[in-house]
Amino acid sequence: MKSFIDAGVEEYLYAMLPPRPPVLAEMERQAKERDIPIVGPAVARVLYQYAKLVGAQTVFEMGSAIGYSTIWWALAVGESGCVIYTDGSEKNAREAEGYFREAGVLERIEIKVGDALELLEKHDEKFDILFNDVDKRDYPRVFDMAGARVRQGGLFITDNVLWSGRVAEPDPKEESTRAILKFNQQLKESKEWFTTVLPLRDGVAVATKL
Ligand SMILES: C[S@@+](CC[C@H](N)C(=O)[O-])C[C@H]1O[C@@H](n2cnc3c(N)ncnc32)[C@H](O)[C@@H]1O
Repeated sequence: MKSFIDAGVEEYLYAMLPPRPPVLAEMERQAKERDIPIVGPAVARVLYQYAKLVGAQTVFEMGSAIGYSTIWWALAVGESGCVIYTDGSEKNAREAEGYFREAGVLERIEIKVGDALELLEKHDEKFDILFNDVDKRDYPRVFDMAGARVRQGGLFITDNVLWSGRVAEPDPKEESTRAILKFNQQLKESKEWFTTVLPLRDGVAVATKL
């Protein structure tokens, strides 16, 4: 993935991160070895921090893979909170469950396997945070659903909104790039969300529900 930060500065940034608990460090190793696209520790710390800032108790995560970001949410919401893990892969979910147990957060996570958009549709409550990390072509549809699923003052956070810089291509043909462009435009034009984009790793959009 192309970085937006000078390589030396990026290396420094990651070197300055405090060590993670062993289970998260092991997941980072696994992700690197097996090419699993996790948010990584710099973005994960931002997620944790935002969750703390809004006093999040409920998080719905769309696209959880082996559960790396899920664990950060679970740590942030604490024992009284609840995080919904979603992924299309049963195999990912079983692996994630093992990590949740190891991290001591299994009780505060609901594991759901299936299409994250369909799973979200089944919920009519509003969450403190909705985290979007599904296939990029689905981002515009996720935007359409998000307004009804986040409480006022809550957050809609989306990863990969700069898509390795492809969003700045003059005439992108790739479906995923076009979907991200549409999604970013939806956020920009929305009166419902106040959005900032953090150019960290692959770009993170943080939208507050007005
Ligand atoms: C980028 S990875 C998630 C990484 C995770 N958020 C983390 O940072 O640790 C995306 C995951 O979402 C899954 N996925 C993509 N689209 C999905 C959908 N519509 N429903 C459920 N899972 C989906 C993929 O199979 C993959 O495991």
